[in-house]
Amino acid sequence: MKRVLTYGTFDLFHEGHVRLLKRAKALGDYLIVAISTDEFNQIKGKTSCMSYEQRKEVVEAIRYVDLVIPENDWEQKINDVQTYHVDTFVMGDDWTGKFDFLKDYCEVVYLPRTENISTTQIKEKLKNRR
Ligand code: CTP
Repeated sequence: MKRVLTYGTFDLFHEGHVRLLKRAKALGDYLIVAISTDEFNQIKGKTSCMSYEQRKEVVEAIRYVDLVIPENDWEQKINDVQTYHVDTFVMGDDWTGKFDFLKDYCEVVYLPRTENISTTQIKEKLKNRR
């Protein structure tokens, strides 16, 4: 069984997220999604509209996703790859090159992002509507 792992915030879940997860799952048989916790978002200076529990519930309901785990810090990736026997690490291409250090442990794939949609863009649109 080929195991795939990806990371993200997945706030205000949108079709860019769906397409990323669909393509990630297609690279293997079992997809693990690590979602940033509210505490980790704070460390990154990011605030999400939906709490970790809400984002987890949504992502768990996606048909391509087999397991959701928390992302607590920047340093956990090597450990996650080893713990979950990950074959392929996947991220959108906004992260190209950033996780190449994982190539010592598994295959690393960067997928093209879906154009013209992001959580940030949704937030901006809502702000401008007021
Ligand atoms: N992603 C994608 N296409 C998009 C938006 C996101 O493929 N249009 C991918 C990202 O590259 C990442 C995953 O989905 O691998 C989770 O992205 P996340 O940062 O949670 O979503 P964004 O919409 O990019 O959020 P933000 O605007 O806050 O950066």
